[in-house]
Amino acid sequence: MPEIQFNHLIQNQKVLVTGGAGFIGSHLIDKLLEGGNEVVCLDNLSTGNQRNLTEAKKSPRFTFINGDIREPEVCRKAVKGAKYVFHQAALGSVPRSVDDPVTTNEVNVGGFVNMLTAAKDEGVKRFVYAASSSTYGNHSALPKTEDIIGQPLSPYAVSKYVNELYARVFGDVYDLKTIGLRYFNVFGERQDPNGAYAAVIPRFITSVIKGESPRINGDGTHSRDFTYVQNAVQANLLAASANTPDADNEIFNVAYGEATTLIQLVDIITQNLVPLLPQSNSISIQFGPERTGDIKHSLASIEKARKVLGYQPQYNIEEGLKRTINWYLKNT
Ligand SMILES: NC(=O)c1ccc[n+]([C@@H]2O[C@H](COP(=O)([O-])OP(=O)(O)OC[C@H]3O[C@@H](n4cnc5c(N)ncnc54)[C@H](O)[C@@H]3O)[C@@H](O)[C@H]2O)c1
Repeated sequence: MPEIQFNHLIQNQKVLVTGGAGFIGSHLIDKLLEGGNEVVCLDNLSTGNQRNLTEAKKSPRFTFINGDIREPEVCRKAVKGAKYVFHQAALGSVPRSVDDPVTTNEVNVGGFVNMLTAAKDEGVKRFVYAASSSTYGNHSALPKTEDIIGQPLSPYAVSKYVNELYARVFGDVYDLKTIGLRYFNVFGERQDPNGAYAAVIPRFITSVIKGESPRINGDGTHSRDFTYVQNAVQANLLAASANTPDADNEIFNVAYGEATTLIQLVDIITQNLVPLLPQSNSISIQFGPERTGDIKHSLASIEKARKVLGYQPQYNIEEGLKRTINWYLKNT
């Protein structure tokens, strides 16, 4: 499919991206800079990395603030003069939140309210924030539609659901225009493959590249709606520029709309790597116990985002994985 450009949606504006040294935020920053925007990044580098900003730092329209969203004054300074806020900063990972619910809450809830407050005081035009598919919790309906959620299964899921509640209240009470994007398993270049809380795709790819067996929690029949990062970037630009009251203070699924099991995922990764690294063919999978807070299947309906925002995901899992694997081959 020919690549559709979305740069024109937000152009020559001052914007703030929180969590911009992280995986998704750094890709969003690169796109916003391509659109001629003046971009401020607020990040405390707790899980992000300056390396992700190598391209961005070449632009005179880019400013990095090393600061923490748990400090209201830092948020206030960062948002000064911004027309749009893309709030990506949070502590991700279900297991991290199970190990340390207090810090997850301080950053994901306390920091979120600080950012909402700073944005409404500054009178920003739109506050777009990273919500999460974990909000669907234990509800088994598939595909997931935005209005039907279950009970959260982890402190992380609670924190992301609370974000949605706060955003709606700030819309009603203070007239701040927000949009929440429920990301479904986003993957792509720059996602951190290291550490106990690494996401499954970067872990699998780097394991296979190193000739090690990828480890699956559970029997591998769990499935996810894996979403290439440029689809999530597109959704952010569409959300910020949305010009219909139907979008105000709403929540949208951001996914591709297809389920892939973990066994299929390993298969696609090895098939891509075999021509370059023939030994990948003989790699076996290690199976471990299921993780607390994990759901069995996840698949999004993306109809609402399509209809209201005009979202058209450009990359399916195969296309996204090709690009991602090429990047890890150069960076592992
Ligand atoms: N990657 C996914 O599949 C996925 C799925 C659902 C939701 N999300 C959400 O999307 C957002 C971005 O996720 P990501 O995958 O890019 O994660 P990431 O960890 O790469 O990025 C998060 C960034 O936030 C920064 N940060 C953390 N705490 C901070 C604080 N107190 N002050 C300032 N900055 C802070 C980190 O340093 C990091 O750069 C997060 O809100 C995450 O919860 C991600």
